Amino acid sequence: MRMIEILDAGELRRARRSGALVADILATLRDRCTVGTNLLDVDRWAKAMIIDAGAQSCYVDYAPSFGRGPFGHYICTSVNDAVLHGRPHDQVLADGDLVSLDLAVSLDGIAADSAVSFLVGDTRPAESVALIETTRRALAAGIAAAGPGVRLGDVSHAIGTVLSGAGYPVNTEFGGHGIGSTMHQEPHVPNLGRPGRGYRLRPGLLLALEPWVMTDTDELVTAEDGWTLRSATGCRTAHSEHTIAITEDGAEVLTLAPR
Ligand code: MF3
Ligand code: CO
Repeated sequence: MRMIEILDAGELRRARRSGALVADILATLRDRCTVGTNLLDVDRWAKAMIIDAGAQSCYVDYAPSFGRGPFGHYICTSVNDAVLHGRPHDQVLADGDLVSLDLAVSLDGIAADSAVSFLVGDTRPAESVALIETTRRALAAGIAAAGPGVRLGDVSHAIGTVLSGAGYPVNTEFGGHGIGSTMHQEPHVPNLGRPGRGYRLRPGLLLALEPWVMTDTDELVTAEDGWTLRSATGCRTAHSEHTIAITEDGAEVLTLAPR
């Protein structure tokens, strides 16, 4: 039987450290991504920071049913029409590219997972800015809705309302998830849901909330690498993710970017 993990106080302290590490690495990588940066360098930098911190990659040996063989890399780098599970490859970032970085690591036995989308260089296409902002607002709405006694459907509904309210189609094949001793756990957190339905959240539960959208389609295609998921129409995409802990009085974001 698959179980929903509830963390005790000591595990929650470790989860905070895992979350801070993921946030720190992502913030550093985001700063380093400029015009001319190669995605393979981003992967090398991620690897070095994970090892340096004494943490383990949740990705390198990961071989789920939705990918071909082990992922083999340390971070997901998804550019423009690529939205999820972007496998780092020999590609140089250009002015105006929309990059999504998604990182999960395990430190002292607890995993944390976060993703950020941003534009490279000085060109800021309005539609891309809107896509990114929408996933951020959806994530904030999901976090604001989460708390003890709240139903999973309430969180999904809060996320989905922002995404569809902005006019984007929503794909429900991939969404958020429980996280703890491993990266992907029960429950699944779809980015659309019905209020008042589903599992009742409890203090000590860790969730990764991850709204993502594609401009004009809800259909994904898998790239030739067997991993990278792209929009079926070639349109641009965005993704925002935080790991949160349900506490006695609300939700605590564990992967907030350092100031
Ligand atoms: N961290 C991703 C998520 O947000 C999963 C990436 S799986 C990988 O759930 F194998 F592609 F890395
Ligand atoms: Co995730």
